[in-house]
Amino acid sequence: PIDPMSVTFQPATGGMNPSGPVLSRRMSDLEGLFADTAAWQEARDGADPVVYEVASSPVPEAPGELPQSITTIHPGTVGGEFHMTKGHQHPNPQGEIYFGLSGTGGLLLFDGTTPKWIPMAPGVIGYIPPGWAHRSVNTGDEPYRFLAVYPGDAGHDYGWVLEHGMGWRVRRGAAEPQLVPFRSEPV
Ligand code: PA5
Ligand code: NI
Repeated sequence: PIDPMSVTFQPATGGMNPSGPVLSRRMSDLEGLFADTAAWQEARDGADPVVYEVASSPVPEAPGELPQSITTIHPGTVGGEFHMTKGHQHPNPQGEIYFGLSGTGGLLLFDGTTPKWIPMAPGVIGYIPPGWAHRSVNTGDEPYRFLAVYPGDAGHDYGWVLEHGMGWRVRRGAAEPQLVPFRSEPV
């Protein structure tokens, strides 16, 4: 175990102080995620923008610890599908807590059978039960940012989502985000 500590959240950037590793996911890192492959390739071969960033506190991913991270998903769409995280399953099934900090988004959950959608906004706690794969989506026009707290030995399985999908895709609609069946063709 490490010593007790406080971590300061930096609202302007989504950074943490003190900070552990900071991850940046560009369009080129998100192969196979968006339904519209041609639109994804165009974005990758063009500006290859940063889609999301993940700042971590210094708490290690070790049994018994509770690491924290802050994810910032930048606004945008690919072929009408909102910017989103890769999504993962915890190979050691354990729960996780998200807390909305700024912007508007959602938490898409999938247990392999049934998808669920939790709208997220500042002040909302989203709970991910053990066994539910999870992906975050920015459904607004500004950065969507949230805190995650998870057991240090939960692990991250990204292959599960590539194999099983997430049940739904989240597309920009006229007013509200549209949840469409995952395997449907790009519109
Ligand atoms: O712990 C979590 O679930 C989050 O911190 C995610 O790891 C983060 O939002 C990035 O998503 P992903 O790990 O699916 O790329
Ligand atoms: Ni997780």
